[in-house]
Amino acid sequence: MTTDTVAFDVVDGIAWVRFNRPEKRNCMSPTLNRRMMEVLDELEFRDDVGVLVLSGEGTAWSAGMDLKEYFRETEAKGLGATRQAQRESYGWWRRLRWYQKPTIAMVNGWCFGGGYGPLYSCDLAIAAEEAKFGLSEINWGILPGGGATKVVVDLIPMRDAMYHAMTGEAIDGKKAAEWRLVNEAVPLAQLKDRVTEIAKVLLEKNPVALKATKDAVRRVKEMTYDNAEDYLVRAQEAANSYDNDGRKEGIRQFIDEKSYKPGLGAYKRG
Ligand code: COA
Repeated sequence: MTTDTVAFDVVDGIAWVRFNRPEKRNCMSPTLNRRMMEVLDELEFRDDVGVLVLSGEGTAWSAGMDLKEYFRETEAKGLGATRQAQRESYGWWRRLRWYQKPTIAMVNGWCFGGGYGPLYSCDLAIAAEEAKFGLSEINWGILPGGGATKVVVDLIPMRDAMYHAMTGEAIDGKKAAEWRLVNEAVPLAQLKDRVTEIAKVLLEKNPVALKATKDAVRRVKEMTYDNAEDYLVRAQEAANSYDNDGRKEGIRQFIDEKSYKPGLGAYKRG
């Protein structure tokens, strides 16, 4: 199904969501931001969606915020419009950071500036070696806002983050993987196959445990060890209230049935 600024289809448990303004290199306008939130809403609790993949139509993943529609035209309408546009974009990125289903950024091409927001929101990120990443803000006279500075400082070493932000030089997918801005980079021709492979691994896992796990990884980063230890006990007990049988079945299939080894793969879900 294609809907204007965002396209998506669901195939075999995977929701393939695409920025869909290829002629504008998928830069994020207020219209696109509003539409993306609706699409995320629609897909989040669908039973036929186990993993969400975010990619872009055409040669771009996303060329960041729309300099004309998001910045110039919105600012011309005043502070209220500016704050509303910020809420709409930051809103769907935040929603994606804490999404019910696991998410993968499939970075097929250009990824600039504001694009680092949704890049960070996705749990995993796989890039084409040919993709280009850049904090281009400095090149047009602003600091990397909308969370972009925080994203690089969180993900990559300080010296690389500083160089990246101050020079505005673009790096390719291979360098992005080396810096750990993405998990890995593969040739563009293999990108979709590799992402499908990873999505299939995730589809085999217990979905309640996956949601608890991805939230835990983001949450404990900012906690002391003792706080994290306590949070993780409570997070598992909360997960048990939605699914108290999965882990018991996982233990049973290993200890009693001897039908799989948790060290080597997932238990078979009913
Ligand atoms: N905001 C608004 N319009 C944008 C845009 C953006 N971020 N990125 C691309 N576009 C528009 C261009 O203005 C052009 O529009 P036109 O056809 O009406 O002239 C169209 O998209 C195609 O862009 P073009 O620059 O011709 O494509 P390219 O493939 O040669 O180059 C980029 C691609 C991504 C390198 C280049 O478009 C670019 O530098 N974009 C801005 C990136 C940026 O700084 N983003 C950070 C914003 S926070």
